[in-house]
Amino acid sequence: MTARRPLIAGNWKMYKTVQEARDFAAEILELVDNVTDVDVAICAPFTALPVLKDELEESIVHIGAQNMYFETQGAFTGEISPLMLKDLACTFVILGHSERREYFKEDDVLIAKKVKTALDHGLTPILCVGENLTLRESGQAAAYVREQVEQDIHGLSPEEVKKIVVAYEPIWAIGTGRTASPQDAQDMCAAIRGTLTSLVGAVSSQVRILYGGSVKSGNIAELMSQPDIDGALVGGASLDVQEFAKMIHGVR
Ligand code: 13P
Repeated sequence: MTARRPLIAGNWKMYKTVQEARDFAAEILELVDNVTDVDVAICAPFTALPVLKDELEESIVHIGAQNMYFETQGAFTGEISPLMLKDLACTFVILGHSERREYFKEDDVLIAKKVKTALDHGLTPILCVGENLTLRESGQAAAYVREQVEQDIHGLSPEEVKKIVVAYEPIWAIGTGRTASPQDAQDMCAAIRGTLTSLVGAVSSQVRILYGGSVKSGNIAELMSQPDIDGALVGGASLDVQEFAKMIHGVR
């Protein structure tokens, strides 16, 4: 039943200079130019977006940002608007990453506004949710993530929800080398889909749900073989162009 197209998205976080981004873009195009059955995206720092636009616009590699404000313009020092992202050929934007929630105190009310704004401007939000180790060990992971999803898509219509991508990223698996087992990741992604179904009905079967947290070429295939995992949001391993290309080829 999975007619959902796989999506492999790299999250560069706060890495790569403009020159490094340019080199990566040129190389990845060569390495994946024959890929037609997987969506590929690179979510780069704002400073690297213009060079990615130059190198990747009109290619099979989509461009994404890692954050965005919910207003289109105004006196919001240091923020970036959806119009600015569109101007740089972005089609994706990561929202609600656990690092934004933790270090920049983003809460679900703010994230919900950002998700709505992204959709209003034709950007595809990659909405990140996930529990920390304490919640996981106390058996509250599913309930916690359900609550995050409910709040972050609050007020959206089924047609809008259909367009978002959800990334399940357990905080304890991010950058730690500790991956959720394929079964645990599947259980949580199925729980997220179940939450979506209870909120917006059958369109939940069309929503892509990614897993993120220490994904690399050696574990991506097993994760992606799970019925409710439609792709990966990759941090560290997306910085190496050979490794990133290997992951894209590895899911086909
Ligand atoms: P790592 O792949 O480095 O664990 O990071 C995952 C992540 O946070 C992607 O958004």
